[in-house]
Amino acid sequence: MRRPFVAGNWKMNTDLNSAVALARAVSDGVNGLTRSMTIAVCPPFVYLKAVADAVKGSGVAVGAQDVYFQPNGAFTGEISVAMLKDVGCTYVICGHSDRRHVIGEQDDLINKKLLAVLAGGLRPILCVGELLEQRDANQTESVVEGQLRSGLKGVSAGQMGSVTIAYEPVWAIGTGRTATPQQAQEVHRFIRDLLEDMYGQQVAQATIIQYGGSVKASNAADLMAQPDVDGLLVGGASLKADEFLGILKASAGSADGLA
Ligand code: 13P
Repeated sequence: MRRPFVAGNWKMNTDLNSAVALARAVSDGVNGLTRSMTIAVCPPFVYLKAVADAVKGSGVAVGAQDVYFQPNGAFTGEISVAMLKDVGCTYVICGHSDRRHVIGEQDDLINKKLLAVLAGGLRPILCVGELLEQRDANQTESVVEGQLRSGLKGVSAGQMGSVTIAYEPVWAIGTGRTATPQQAQEVHRFIRDLLEDMYGQQVAQATIIQYGGSVKASNAADLMAQPDVDGLLVGGASLKADEFLGILKASAGSADGLA
């Protein structure tokens, strides 16, 4: 019932040539995969248009890594939802842990961004996840709950059809230390239960929850085999076309088991 959704977050990597080459290699390699799953690539802002042009017609969607919530005006350096639409974006990552923990973004700003993305007709991917010290202090659930409830403040049940949640434990990002499928499943289940509490069973069952953190072609199938893991948000491994295509194939293979 839930359509698997795998996205590549390129973060602050690639240049114009390599971004276009990577986008072409991904769109050439997906073949029929986009019929059964949603696939997106999220390049840096300045390469969005070139990447959107490169994947056109392949069924691969394009996402932005961030956005600002105001529509226009004196916000030097910022990018609006309308600008992202203008260059061919469908998805927008909101509250990535790189932005929360490196740039210092807080829950209320993330919520404003997410609401602006929805109001503008794009589809937010809300990232949540705990730091290692929070996991060690048994605070995983309270951290994730706080981020989820504040991120989704003011979002209606009807709007939830456009929202994807990504659980990315910060200790697993770029570290090579993937959460075990069981660790991922526990938190994904917790998130789905929270969604049920907030929006009811129908929304909870329909919402895509991605896992992110050191996903590779070799661990994608085991993660995707978990009942509440519906997709993946891939960082480093999405920068290599073969590896990313391997992840997509592994995810499509285990999609049959999805609820
Ligand atoms: P890695 O896959 O490089 O660990 O990054 C995960 C991530 O942050 C995706 O948004």
